[in-house]
Amino acid sequence: MCGIVGYVGADHAKEKIIDGLKRLEYRGYDSAGIALPIDGKIQIRKHVGEIRNLEKIIGEPEFDSAVGIGHTRWATHGAPSDLNSHPHGNSDNSIAIVHNGIIENYQEIKEWLARDYGVTFKSETDSEVIAHLIGIFYDGDLLEAVNKAVAEMRGAYAVCAIAAAEPDKIVAVRKDAPLVAGVGKGFNFIASDIPALLKYVRQVYLIENNETVVLTKDDIVIYNEEGRKVRRDVFNVTWDADAAEKEGYEHFMLKEIHEQPKGIYETLTRRINDDGSIRLDGISMTKEDIENFNKVYIVACGTAYHAGLVGKLVIEKMAHVPVEIDVASEFRYRDPFVDENTLFIAISQSGETLDTLAALREAKRKGARVLSVVNVVGSSVARESDDVFYTWAGPEIAVASTKAYTTQLICMYLLGLYMGKTKGTIEDDYYDKVLSDLKALPDKVELLLKKEDEIAEIARKYHRREQVFFIGRGLDSGVSYEGSLKLKEISYINSFAIAAGELKHGTIALMEEETLVFALATQDFLYEKMVSNVEEIRARGARIISVAKEGRTEIEKVTDEVIYIPDCIDEVSPVLAVIPLQLFAYYVARERGCNIDKPKNLAKSVTVE
Ligand code: AGP
Ligand code: GLU
Repeated sequence: MCGIVGYVGADHAKEKIIDGLKRLEYRGYDSAGIALPIDGKIQIRKHVGEIRNLEKIIGEPEFDSAVGIGHTRWATHGAPSDLNSHPHGNSDNSIAIVHNGIIENYQEIKEWLARDYGVTFKSETDSEVIAHLIGIFYDGDLLEAVNKAVAEMRGAYAVCAIAAAEPDKIVAVRKDAPLVAGVGKGFNFIASDIPALLKYVRQVYLIENNETVVLTKDDIVIYNEEGRKVRRDVFNVTWDADAAEKEGYEHFMLKEIHEQPKGIYETLTRRINDDGSIRLDGISMTKEDIENFNKVYIVACGTAYHAGLVGKLVIEKMAHVPVEIDVASEFRYRDPFVDENTLFIAISQSGETLDTLAALREAKRKGARVLSVVNVVGSSVARESDDVFYTWAGPEIAVASTKAYTTQLICMYLLGLYMGKTKGTIEDDYYDKVLSDLKALPDKVELLLKKEDEIAEIARKYHRREQVFFIGRGLDSGVSYEGSLKLKEISYINSFAIAAGELKHGTIALMEEETLVFALATQDFLYEKMVSNVEEIRARGARIISVAKEGRTEIEKVTDEVIYIPDCIDEVSPVLAVIPLQLFAYYVARERGCNIDKPKNLAKSVTVE
């Protein structure tokens, strides 16, 4: 989700808002806009693309005010465009809003407002409904109208609203998306996070969930869910701008590792109906389509490909359909067997990886149905797919992908469950068990992240190694490839992943005294075989760090370090097993003084062959 900046003071709101939005550019965004109350009317100006595109249309001095709200958008509903950019106004622009997050029940609200109030919508976004709701409830009191509007909404939101009739205030509300209020002298700010404010204030109020804030130039009043005023101590910001962008984390990668519980929650929970059924918004495959697929292809690159390795086993098991998987750069050149009965799944965080895009085009040319799992709304892969299944991980800045990977896994599970349920190839109690364990993942990842210091200690112990092996069986095999890539790409250690059962067919010749091996043993039905594999390499003097589920202590007898993950069914363990590998890679690279967020030779999106 992206950036919000609101300002209320004596004058020149435009300059402060634009300046604040620029401080949020690091988060990645696709469009920007600003709304100012001028001469009794609200003027909204917005533009797709970078903030400098917006600056070209707001230059005249008379376009300014003492109050205003601005936004940088990271699209979730509606591709990037001028019309879908924020701010959004109600029908006569007497109200304007900016929004971060997702309004889950926006379709119902749109239908209701169109039917009962004759509202016509200008954009494809979920957010626009907020402006119309406030407009309908508005009766001279913006705070009251915002509270009434919020009562109709479900989902995650940080919203700021202004009213033409009250051009001296901003009303903001927060639920599951961040908001901070900056305390000035004769002016006040509201923003989605601290970097936007640092040039002007160092004292902020951290707004908590379900709180509403009313800002005027001399006052900030916070109300709780019951409408009572809340006393809140100010938070004195000591960070510099660079630290603030990472919200106090040393690197974006570590921040994004810690954002995984939220990303998993956003990607998963908003697609599960109250009755436990799955709604795949943005996917129009029919029951007949799904039944007609006699093959699935999963094609991607790098980390996205590793998510596909898990997806293959999950979709085969749940939907009883053969799944082939390939790296995009190979798929394109081997004249693959693809036809109208093939479901082609492209996985891509950026949605701009040329190899993946070219593979998608090849599959489409051969008649396949193309579904893409993408993190960037409106990206090339998304636009060229028949169906798009968005990961809602939010912008991923670090080159090494972490939260995109775990949310891609979530999409694999949801697809497997959905296809299995549709085809009747999945037992109800198994479906319920998988769904229940998926829902428990955000909390379990949070719990696992509390082992950060323990894992950092292990990383410090082994950070000078120049070769590390990763081994696993079944789903753990795919995760070991991802763990190896994480370590390789940020620490430059020569790491190597291999299916544990394959070791004896050659690679075990490399095992010698002190060879470091990461052994993933989270698959209960393969646990004993993994313990045997570990004994084999231990007999040759190797050092072994293992990852196992809590309670499976047998492996302790044959490994030097064990990192336990919370218990869960085998199918969902990859989402947990990868966390220690991400943290291990991060802390090894940190000990080695590497450029973690921007590793040498790498780009965040590989848009060349
Ligand atoms: C992952 O950590 C790497 N940065 C890289 O392998 C990446 O996963 C690959 O380039 C694919 O990118 P995409 O998901 O944006 O298509
Ligand atoms: N869901 C809204 C949209 O797609 C807000 C996205 C954001 O948080 O920037 O416009």
